[in-house]
Amino acid sequence: NDTLYQAIVKRGRSYIGTAVTLRNETKELDIMKTEFNSMTPENAMKWESTEPSQGIFTFADGDRHANFAKENGLQLRCHTLIWHSQLPLWVSQGGFDNATLIQVMEDHIKALATRWADNCNQWDVVNEALNENGTYRSSVFYETIGEAYIPIAFRLAKKYAPKALLFYNDYNIEDNGNKTAGAVRIVKLIQSYGVHIDGVGYQGHLTSEPTNTNPGSAPNQATLEAALRATADLGVDVAYTELDVRLNTTTVNEAAIARQTAVWENVARACLNVKQCIGMTVWGVSDKYSWIPGVFKGEGKGLLFDDDYNKKEAYYGFKRGI
Ligand code: XIL
Repeated sequence: NDTLYQAIVKRGRSYIGTAVTLRNETKELDIMKTEFNSMTPENAMKWESTEPSQGIFTFADGDRHANFAKENGLQLRCHTLIWHSQLPLWVSQGGFDNATLIQVMEDHIKALATRWADNCNQWDVVNEALNENGTYRSSVFYETIGEAYIPIAFRLAKKYAPKALLFYNDYNIEDNGNKTAGAVRIVKLIQSYGVHIDGVGYQGHLTSEPTNTNPGSAPNQATLEAALRATADLGVDVAYTELDVRLNTTTVNEAAIARQTAVWENVARACLNVKQCIGMTVWGVSDKYSWIPGVFKGEGKGLLFDDDYNKKEAYYGFKRGI
């Protein structure tokens, strides 16, 4: 009776991970240690958490998470260096010119990458650079530096985190549409600069039925696989990095649960069918602390364990797919 990570390791892949916010919750901590062999700090390594004012670095929470990984033998996916969100105003509204903003990026990347040089197995170097139609998202980085900010970030990450696998990470690229094409363009852009990229992270914040915030539902297994291959064919690894499969919480019934379970199974099968898919991370242990209800009104119940830490149908579906 293998746990999740034991099952995927037997299939020759590297890990099953979870997002982690450390809190006094014994059952959650137990599951983190038994079901998972990797973790991603949910917020502790983001820019607002690590450099709230220019040059003032606050590493205590990131250290706590990095130490937890080390003490419990978990791999660590470090998240995230360059992102438009959870970015302090001193960066987004600092009015820096091109050269100065590149220096600000270098100072930040250098500080975090060297702090956790022996801890991070992976880094999400750039997060969410794309709009839904595959064009570049407007951000202080894009507006000031242009698309070159992406290869520049990867060049700096390689310089200061030479041991970590370096990922581009985004959401809604799981269905092989225009946004996936944008991710393909980003990988090619980085490679065209002669800069190293190891992988593309498919966040995987999915729905299994139409919701207010997503009129569609999750792609089928063939489409999930095609989307993974779209970037993997360029010579990089791929991974699911932030999986949840949310429901409309007011209309949960057996059919809804069955559809949700099938999505979890399809996701796992898609990863296992693509040889470059190195592992999968779910975005939290239990529904109790999931970010979904706070951000997507009326939606939730997207994880593998319920509020009382019981395994859900979703857990068994995911496990079947592994
Ligand atoms: C979310 C966290 O789960 C929340 O606790 C926080 O309030 C907002 O960010 N894409 C990402 C993650 O890359 O960092 C986000 O995490 C979810 C969407």
